[in-house]
Amino acid sequence: MRTPIIAGNWKMNTTVDEAVSLVKAMKDGLERIEGVEKVLCPPFVSLASVGEVLKGSSIGLGAQNMYFEEKGAYTGEVSPLMLAGLCQYVILGHSERRGYFGETDEIVNKKIKAALKVGLKPIVCVGETLEENEAGRTGEIVTRQVRSALDGLASLENLVIAYEPIWAIGTGKAATEEQANSTIGFIRSIVAELYGTAAQDLRIQYGGSANAANIAALMSQPEIDGALVGGASLKAEEFVSMVEQTAGVRGQGSGVRDQG
Ligand code: PGA
Repeated sequence: MRTPIIAGNWKMNTTVDEAVSLVKAMKDGLERIEGVEKVLCPPFVSLASVGEVLKGSSIGLGAQNMYFEEKGAYTGEVSPLMLAGLCQYVILGHSERRGYFGETDEIVNKKIKAALKVGLKPIVCVGETLEENEAGRTGEIVTRQVRSALDGLASLENLVIAYEPIWAIGTGKAATEEQANSTIGFIRSIVAELYGTAAQDLRIQYGGSANAANIAALMSQPEIDGALVGGASLKAEEFVSMVEQTAGVRGQGSGVRDQG
């Protein structure tokens, strides 16, 4: 049984004060929910403050990016070693990094290896553009991205993949649960070609306009192991509801801990 994982990607939103208010607004609600791995990914500058609020809780903390070198003359970059002391997860290869900042499959692969080396858990994003989707090239694109991402990795341990069709990100137009399930199943088959039965234990999330209204349908699909949530993760109540619904659909029992 794969434990579902719901991660909030706050992207370039929230000042430090706002990030602290946001995490405080969702912490208790998230804390009560069992059977789902919960992760918050605020901007770099808020990792320490948000981490302080989350200390001792069951809620994980992640960064949204990092450089692959451990240290040195790379002005403005953040290294795996710096993050290892602050958080447990790191989103890598997000389509916004690939699209706006020129991250190639090769760079993403280097970052994954560097993250794993210091004990960070990478959430690796893959997904096709609208044009690629309409041309029937989804399988080809995600195959290339997944194979490159995993190139040279001895095991899948600590790794999470997020399938995020670019046409669904921030558009309000999520993939249907059948589409997401089918592509995620396909991604799992690619991983299985490389790692055999270990692919059955790999968590593969869906991302792209996931929200409180569609999460239950998405999570009722067998291949979908959670969500990487952008916009909706900035709304405390909605994000808590998404995790709660996930626990309801996939977790054991109600998923909500008694507060007695
Ligand atoms: P969205 O973003 O939920 O706002 O579509 C998802 C993501 O980019 O991770």
